[in-house]
Amino acid sequence: DSKRLAPTPPMGWMTWNFFADNINEKDIREMADAMVASGMVEAGYNYIFIDDGWQGGRDNRNNIIADPKKFPSGIKALAEYVHSKGMKLGIYSDAAQLTCAGYTGSLGFEEQDAKTFASWDIDYLKYDYCFAPKDSATAVERYTKMSQALRKSGRDIVFGICEWGQRKPWHWAAEAGGQLWRTTYDVRDKWKNLSCDENAEGIIDILDINAELHEYAGPGRWNDADMLVVGLYGKPGPSGDMGGVGMNDTEYQSQMSLWSIMASPLIATNDIRNMNEATKRILLNKEVIAVNQDALGKQAERKVHDGTWDVFVKPLQNGEVAVAILNRGDAAKSYSIDWAKLGLKGKYEVRDLWAHKTVGKGKGWKGRVQSHETKLFRLKKI
Ligand code: GLA
Repeated sequence: DSKRLAPTPPMGWMTWNFFADNINEKDIREMADAMVASGMVEAGYNYIFIDDGWQGGRDNRNNIIADPKKFPSGIKALAEYVHSKGMKLGIYSDAAQLTCAGYTGSLGFEEQDAKTFASWDIDYLKYDYCFAPKDSATAVERYTKMSQALRKSGRDIVFGICEWGQRKPWHWAAEAGGQLWRTTYDVRDKWKNLSCDENAEGIIDILDINAELHEYAGPGRWNDADMLVVGLYGKPGPSGDMGGVGMNDTEYQSQMSLWSIMASPLIATNDIRNMNEATKRILLNKEVIAVNQDALGKQAERKVHDGTWDVFVKPLQNGEVAVAILNRGDAAKSYSIDWAKLGLKGKYEVRDLWAHKTVGKGKGWKGRVQSHETKLFRLKKI
């Protein structure tokens, strides 16, 4: 069932890092339109995920309701609109009385809320864990309860577990009914977290946690490295300052490469209505997306991790292999690697998935990598 619900990592656009809880149906409709017009849907980003802040409490029968000011037409009408554009709609709740931003959570109302979501034609639930007890047993119990409620609702609803990797969900989340689980605290629009805010991560901090978890991923069970911050440039929208200083396009391209090779969900959170050319080039690179969405469903293994260089290897369905080479250093540097060092015997034709061309043939690769750049290659045996 899990494999059927999420055979490859989910892709889409999420409200949180751009809007935070300042969301409304007009903006989300506009974003849905822009997802189609920009080619995002065609490239595979087929979910719109409403994050925290949509809730308006409960009615006199305890049915959870949307904030009527933000969503005057209701969530079902929005789902209908999103579906008419060829996309699916995700929603958000929390395994406690309150959500992280202080809205109504689902604890004690799991079956009722699952039914409500199903009646709205919701396709995905992100289920957060703020204001819930710290121990693992309770987390397993609360997530299992909601996943069973979703299954009972009669609708196919993908279940995204969001307890920030704190109770090692890669060991239990699939069994608890999740198709994906966040592995870290919240992504911020920055390379590395240098502040004291330990609940916010730069992309390198996330990389170093998520990279170690490759053996737990597969079709229907994904390590979720959180949103792609590509295109935010340190200027989130109505969300205000989320503590991201911003990154340059080389760094955004790295995030896209690394999240793709790690088979993480690809969830954009930038303003799709106003994307510059660089952002489009990064988010819409179909060769890179194909690595992420490969049917074999392997998360890359990190084979080199020496302080400056990280090298990832991801076997693909057709026998080819994706390889990512990241320069973590502060200066451009040359690198040379023998494929045999990665366990790849013989000779390969190397296609650069950002340059869109063959860049070599043989037993290895040699070249220059910019500071914070990630090369993403596809190797074909010759
Ligand atoms: C948590 C999650 C975020 C987001 C917010 C919403 O911090 O990890 O991704 O959903 O809550 O309040």
